[in-house]
Amino acid sequence: MCGIVGYIGDKNALPILLDGLKRLEYRGYDSAGVAIVGDDLRVIKTAGRIANLEERLKSETLIGTLGVAHTRWATHGIPNDNNAHPHFSESKNIVVIHNGIIENYLEIKKMLIHEGRTFRTETDTEVIAYLIEEFYEGDLLKAVKKATEILEGSYAIAVLSKDEKDRFVAVRKDSPLIAGVGDGENFIASDIPAVLPYTKDIIIFENGDIVDVRRDRIDIYDKNLNSIKRTVQRIDWKIEDAQKSGFKHFMLKEIFEEPKVIREAMRGRIKNGEIEVPEIMLDSEYLKGISQVYFVACGTAYHAGVYGKYLAEKYLRIPAQAEVASEFRYRNPVIDGRTLVFIISQSGETTDTLAALRFAKEHGAKTIGIVNVVGSSVAREVNKVIYIHAGPEIAVASTKAYVAQVEVIALTIFYLAKLIGKLPKVQEDLIVKELMSLEDKAKSIIERSSEISDFVSTVKNIEETFYIGRNMDFALSLEGALKLKEISYVHAEGYPAGELKHGPLALVTPNSLVIAISTFTPLRDKTLSNIKEVKARRGKVLAVAREGYENMNEVADRVFYVPKVMDDLSPIITVIPLQLIAYYMAESRGLDIDKPRNLAKSVTVE
Ligand code: AGP
Repeated sequence: MCGIVGYIGDKNALPILLDGLKRLEYRGYDSAGVAIVGDDLRVIKTAGRIANLEERLKSETLIGTLGVAHTRWATHGIPNDNNAHPHFSESKNIVVIHNGIIENYLEIKKMLIHEGRTFRTETDTEVIAYLIEEFYEGDLLKAVKKATEILEGSYAIAVLSKDEKDRFVAVRKDSPLIAGVGDGENFIASDIPAVLPYTKDIIIFENGDIVDVRRDRIDIYDKNLNSIKRTVQRIDWKIEDAQKSGFKHFMLKEIFEEPKVIREAMRGRIKNGEIEVPEIMLDSEYLKGISQVYFVACGTAYHAGVYGKYLAEKYLRIPAQAEVASEFRYRNPVIDGRTLVFIISQSGETTDTLAALRFAKEHGAKTIGIVNVVGSSVAREVNKVIYIHAGPEIAVASTKAYVAQVEVIALTIFYLAKLIGKLPKVQEDLIVKELMSLEDKAKSIIERSSEISDFVSTVKNIEETFYIGRNMDFALSLEGALKLKEISYVHAEGYPAGELKHGPLALVTPNSLVIAISTFTPLRDKTLSNIKEVKARRGKVLAVAREGYENMNEVADRVFYVPKVMDDLSPIITVIPLQLIAYYMAESRGLDIDKPRNLAKSVTVE
């Protein structure tokens, strides 16, 4: 979704703003623009990539130490130069950049048109600039405050005035916004990587914060302009965390980081051979009374929740369901104080997920967040947050976050099972031993990534794929299929292996590829039979199977063996070959892997 950067200091703002935008490219966008206050207030913006904007800027002189910049992911109006941000007010004295959606923009627009205003774009954002101008009487902060009283919807905005060269004003409501605190200079951005080269002192704003940014200070106010304080946090990210570090793409780098991610997600959660997730701290009487468990999320995080459903049902013996957030929140599900809802989100800012979380809380459920981004909205609003510690994930396709989500879900379920007396010590010992072996097993898969790229080179023209599996392997098949479609644009479906013959088998021809995942021991012979059904229709089959299951060689065209690990933990490492299949398929097609078409990293609209 849109990316926002703002700078005020003693340096030339333009290169800092462009650098910041590039570090937010992962969010997904289709146009970019910049506004600089120098002798005058200038705006340059263009459809397409930041490279197009840089090309356009070659013929311009934009000098100034105060400015804002934006990457737009179109919601209202097509992606073109005109609809790109920043947007001027009618007199061109004020500019605004915005991430989010103004839900009552049509009413405001009609009202302003009625008063004689003329608009230039199709966007919802433009009304913000016009509204601020309506209220402007020489003090930008006061005008912004009055405008926000009228705006409905979600917004992180930054506002500049031609007449106030020593400040800019920003507001956060339901869209992410942080500040980087520098020495004689300050920054705001949608996300931390944008400011990482300049400062590690970060403020994460809360909903409703109105922020007055000066060179030497950042003043924060509530909606009535009462002064408030927010903590400045020193973050320990290294700049390399947000760089490709020699990898061709962020996605590949992030897959290769997975062994480390597996270790980090476990840190502090296995002590003296015992599983412990101290963040939970729920009252044991409450825990014993839980009547049902939900896993609610979107996309990849939802697929981690599908895994959670199988695991929770098995170890807690409590009814468990996984549901996509956009369905859950509008379905009126039966939930109450005895319902435990896991909210899973890498970014912690996904609008549907946030709304589902609020819905669950309003209906009395307890919520546990499984979140990557520290201080994000989900992290702040859940009853208990468990961070996955995967580090910044830049590629739009989520990979290492999935691995960490699944692992943290497993640790949490095992810990809850212990707390309610359903995990005997011998079983816990076995699980801990297996958990400790995962990092090396993940490494060994990654060392064999050329096996995957070789295989993909033999099927790179394929147009139809099915991912099949049973039980937790089915959860994996959903994720494998999503990965392939989102970055390689090859049509892919994840199916329960037993369901193929109930319809999709009609589509299987010699030009189809079926990726059969078979690591769930009790049902592996059943999946084998399903593979035979595909082979009888002359479909190609790549099996992703557990080491030692040699029968697979006899039926599948190719087999990628994953190291032996207990069934319940298998998804943590078995997803790696699936992610690599998607990566190499997209690479063989020469696609923009880190920024697939039409997608955004953080989906902050419904
Ligand atoms: C994953 O590859 C996708 N880009 C997408 O499905 C993502 O997982 C989904 O939008 C949820 O995001 P979140 O984890 O940040 O909430």
